[in-house]
Amino acid sequence: MSKLGLQASLGKRIILGLVVALVLLGIGFFFARLGGWNYFLRSEPSIDQGEQNVQNASQARQSFVDDMAAWNADPSKPPAGIPVDQDGYFQPSLDREIPDGEFGDAVRRGREIFTNTGTNATEFVGNDLACSNCHLDAGRRPNAAPMWAAAVKYPAYRSKNEMINTMEDRVHGCFTYSMNAQDSPSGGPPPRGHQVYKDLESYFFWLAQGAPINTHLPGAGYPELAETELGADIGRGESVFSANCAACHGDNGQGRRDLNGRVIFPPLWGDHSFNWGAGMHRVNTAAGFIKANMPLGKPYSLTDQEAWDVAAYITSKDRPIDPRDVDKSQ
Ligand code: HEC
Ligand code: HEC
Repeated sequence: MSKLGLQASLGKRIILGLVVALVLLGIGFFFARLGGWNYFLRSEPSIDQGEQNVQNASQARQSFVDDMAAWNADPSKPPAGIPVDQDGYFQPSLDREIPDGEFGDAVRRGREIFTNTGTNATEFVGNDLACSNCHLDAGRRPNAAPMWAAAVKYPAYRSKNEMINTMEDRVHGCFTYSMNAQDSPSGGPPPRGHQVYKDLESYFFWLAQGAPINTHLPGAGYPELAETELGADIGRGESVFSANCAACHGDNGQGRRDLNGRVIFPPLWGDHSFNWGAGMHRVNTAAGFIKANMPLGKPYSLTDQEAWDVAAYITSKDRPIDPRDVDKSQ
């Protein structure tokens, strides 16, 4: 081949090369505009992967359900990521975490109503009790019907009134019976939708931060005591009372006040205690509460038998009538 011919074919090749490069660049540009590179760089989920995701999600639910069952069977096995104390019980929010702003204010008001009910919800309280007398440590203590556990339980069906109960229904009930609202200045529990409910519910909801909802958390409610062979006996209960309870609650069960008239030990029966309709008036509920919480500072120190007997003794005493009986008689 001549020198000239060589140069000509080199020139053609260069031009051809440039054309090919341009065409490729053009294709690449349009491909990129159409998002085509994504197909290679980041694989979009195919139908198979979609199914896989659904399966993974359903497995995640299943292992959560299994973890909750294991936790309920054994409180030392809490699912990962849930704040727990040294005994494995849910650890509610700490006061220092209460946020600023309107919601934080409601939480603070709710806490004050809960712990000083007579002072902060005066109109609706007909006895000398406060919510926290039965739901100890401001509603934090496990096995004392803690409010963090209650917050994740409602709405729920209750056989007591044969309907779905919201948290407001539940609090309405504790005002009606445990706080004996019939003898309060207003003559009844807070009307539906009252700010008292909003503040209390804000407090409970905030306490439960980090807990799974619609679950039974270990430490919820009061423990159930197995029935004993001897059954519950009022006479034996009286001796248990004198030996273990009277020092604080008084020989007459009427509790004690300090020099400023503030209740330091709440009354267990009589005109200023819970009424006949209250949960604490059921022997089994009182026995479970007492076993796990009384004498104060010495939980689980009574035998089951002693707890049943003293519960029978307390619940045998006079106290305000069940308002439902009054309604019936009218
Ligand atoms: C005399 C004791 C007593 C007082 C006072 C009391 N409660 Fe209760 N409360 C109970 C009992 C008993 C139960 C039933 C617990 C159970 O069924 O395990 C209960 C249950 C509850 C529940 C549902 C708990 C759960 O885990 O389902 C809430 C919420 C509640 N009370 C709120 C209050 C509020 C708010 C106040 C004050 C306005 C109050 N209680 C005052 C004894 C009391
Ligand atoms: C060291 C003092 C002390 C002793 C002893 C004691 N309690 Fe209490 N009890 C309290 C206090 C204080 C509360 C209220 C708890 C709170 O507000 O934190 C309470 C609350 C109660 C309540 C719920 C509120 C109410 O008024 O109905 C019952 C029921 C109860 N005690 C029963 C008993 C029984 C039964 C015994 C004996 C086995 C007993 N207590 C021993 C201090 C004591």
